[in-house]
Amino acid sequence: MVDRNAVYPVPETIAKTAHLNQADYQTLYRRSIEDPEGFWAEQADRFIDWYRPWDRVMDWDFHEPRIRWFEGAELNVSHNCLDRHLETRGDKTAIIWEGDEPGETRTLSYRELHTAVCRLANGLRMRGVRRGDRVCIYMPMVPEAAVAMLACTRIGAIHSVVFGGFSPNALRDRIQDADCKLVITADEGIRGGKRIPLKANTDAALKDCPGVETVVVYRRTEAEVEWVTDRDIDYHELVAQADDECPPESMGAEDPLFILYTSGSTGKPKGVLHTTGGYILQAAMTHHYVFDYHEDDIYWCTADVGWVTGHSYIVYGPLANGATTVMFEGVPNYPDASRHWEMVDRHGITIYYTAPTAIRALMRAGDEPVKKTRRDSLRILGTVGEPINPEAWNWYHQVVGESRCPVMDTWWQTETGGIMITPLPGATDLKPGSATLPFFGVQPALMDADGRELEGEAAGNLVIKASWPGQMRTVYGDHERFAQTYFSAYPGCYFTGDGARRDSDGYYWITGRVDDVLNVSGHRLGTAEVESALVLHSTVAEAAVVGFPHDVKGQGIYAYVSLMSGKTPDPALKQELIDLVRKEIGPIATPDVIQWAAGLPKTRSGKIMRRILRKIAANELDSLGDTSTLADPAVVDELIDQRIEPK
Ligand code: WT7
Repeated sequence: MVDRNAVYPVPETIAKTAHLNQADYQTLYRRSIEDPEGFWAEQADRFIDWYRPWDRVMDWDFHEPRIRWFEGAELNVSHNCLDRHLETRGDKTAIIWEGDEPGETRTLSYRELHTAVCRLANGLRMRGVRRGDRVCIYMPMVPEAAVAMLACTRIGAIHSVVFGGFSPNALRDRIQDADCKLVITADEGIRGGKRIPLKANTDAALKDCPGVETVVVYRRTEAEVEWVTDRDIDYHELVAQADDECPPESMGAEDPLFILYTSGSTGKPKGVLHTTGGYILQAAMTHHYVFDYHEDDIYWCTADVGWVTGHSYIVYGPLANGATTVMFEGVPNYPDASRHWEMVDRHGITIYYTAPTAIRALMRAGDEPVKKTRRDSLRILGTVGEPINPEAWNWYHQVVGESRCPVMDTWWQTETGGIMITPLPGATDLKPGSATLPFFGVQPALMDADGRELEGEAAGNLVIKASWPGQMRTVYGDHERFAQTYFSAYPGCYFTGDGARRDSDGYYWITGRVDDVLNVSGHRLGTAEVESALVLHSTVAEAAVVGFPHDVKGQGIYAYVSLMSGKTPDPALKQELIDLVRKEIGPIATPDVIQWAAGLPKTRSGKIMRRILRKIAANELDSLGDTSTLADPAVVDELIDQRIEPK
């Protein structure tokens, strides 16, 4: 049985070598709050190489909102991730790559990675990419995805990585919104033995993107693909023509580094904009402290570079610290459920960072696939992306880590750039399911519905009261949306969209989103996005999408669909709707359930009562709440009658 009140102190083996103990954490945390300018200046000096120092450490105002860190300073991110390591770590492995098939591996030393980045950076320049231009990266998990990101940073181009699982239409929207002039992609990706037609998807997306002048195509599978003369160029041909010396651009600390699209509760995904100095500092520093990173660690974050976790904790944080970072092309259950643990043994992985959904899926396969591997190299475990239930936490801790490796439950968001609430291996007693305490400089608070701050033990909406270096600076091209989304609910505070509880030890327990954002297998989706896709179908009058609790995925997608009058539902139509969502967004947005609804529960003013729809989807029929204020309370009974039990 799971003891929900268990507390796990710092293991002695960890305490012996950890960078920080509990007292260090408390002292440093206090200093980071009382003297943020002094604290961050020290950290910036320690973790980052600057070409020119800053005039001012920070300058922010959440009312405007305006956020600036290290203004006046100059630096280059690819220099920080590569050049500065060459003297002492030139031959050290920067990237260990493992392909979809077990044992298919490649390694790149820091020197080799540096050369690859310089060549591609020059190649991009030859194709007319300049400082400030946007480059879209739509790649499988191969080292060249990281090379592409770093090549952009080298010449001051702003990358926008789009997850390889997104559909042509989703790719098109993101390329258009950022007005990208070049796309870097591959012929195909391979995941779990399945091919993903990245080049064909790109061709389809680009039908409506006249601004794209060049498509660079990396050959992953050598599959035959369509070729547009003058627009398309082979990655290897491009870099073969390019010089391997490429002096990095000197970038301002507040120059944009990348755009990454993420879902909100309304409208289309927004382009989260991160800038150069603050972001790379946050990524490097959190990677160092949260994973208690040491020079000889072999570090593996299982995310995809298409998500912020891949940006900060596969590429930027580890490489800024001169670490060996593992990149994996495949999935946890291919060819079987031992894959991850065999990789841990094969590469001698010491730090392993994954998502609760992967842990739950592997837990279902039982202990045997884990126990037949050694895993004795493991030192630190981490999770990110969604709340981790104590059962999964315990299995991860006891079976995977043999009760020896502390589990870092890290809470953060695309918007925060880096980890915000987290244990530190040598400093924090662990409670399964709690992200524990704020990282340096982070000031979380809980608010009630009326905007009053709650003190002590409490549950409420999670806000952050002061800026941190890795904070997003704006929504690309729409500062008003930035202000509205994050700074209007609680004036003077950044609103996270999450709910949380704080216990008597001051530990935070994230309870999940309080807005209309879904978290499906750690992938963030807006209910509005799925609804917009569904109503594109000519027979659909209205759609309402909610999440429901799912054992493996965390949340599943439950869609209520009303048809135009005179239209009758049938299984073929259901399939058409599913295909439509996959086409508009991608397979990750596939609804688990589509329920035909004659009517939706609405207030008299016409607002859909999602609260009721969520309760029906979750089969929590005793707690529907007051339905008497609905325009037509009878629709609720009908929806309950026709409720579909998710598989
Ligand atoms: C949302 C952000 C940050 C990288 C991955 C997701 C949820 C994230 C945790 C955690 C509970 C978590 C939140 C957050 N979340 N980490 N440790 N415990 N919930 O980034 O796609 O921007 O999603 O993920 O709900 O708001 P993202």
